[in-house]
Amino acid sequence: MKSIIFENCYLIEFPKLGDNNRGFLTAFEINNKFLFAIKRIYYIYEIGDLQGIRGPHAHKQTQQIFFTLNGKAKYHLDNGIEKKEITIDKPNIGIFIGPKIWHYINDFSVGIIFLVVASTYYDENDYLRNYDQFLDYNKHRL
Ligand code: TYD
Repeated sequence: MKSIIFENCYLIEFPKLGDNNRGFLTAFEINNKFLFAIKRIYYIYEIGDLQGIRGPHAHKQTQQIFFTLNGKAKYHLDNGIEKKEITIDKPNIGIFIGPKIWHYINDFSVGIIFLVVASTYYDENDYLRNYDQFLDYNKHRL
């Protein structure tokens, strides 16, 4: 189930299969109904400084889905005009963040692991790492 939460951003609920005794399993397949063809998978772990953030940046093309595998984290979204923040604390909820959305994650719980699937191979040229550069890239909206 997919629900829009912000421009170019969705929450996606994936199935949670199992029970409290055996534990749970979430699986998804990349068929032609999936949002994009996954070209890259990465995960972020052993975050030491709980005041720290991952990001901030935006992408020119890349679409990604972030999974908060254990614990909770706050996702901050910004299209250059409006901002939204959302806390996710369920491993079967993915947050899809499309291109041209400034984003960062903070307020992690201890031991957090993020799993991310992306639509592109890693390319530093796809990043907008400076907020003014991001606004400039999106200036046709203003
Ligand atoms: P970085 O972009 O700083 O992480 P964040 O998402 O928190 O802004 O990435 C950390 C390092 O990992 C940086 O040297 C780039 C590299 N990297 C890859 O090599 N491949 C990838 O897919 C990603 C996301 C990062």
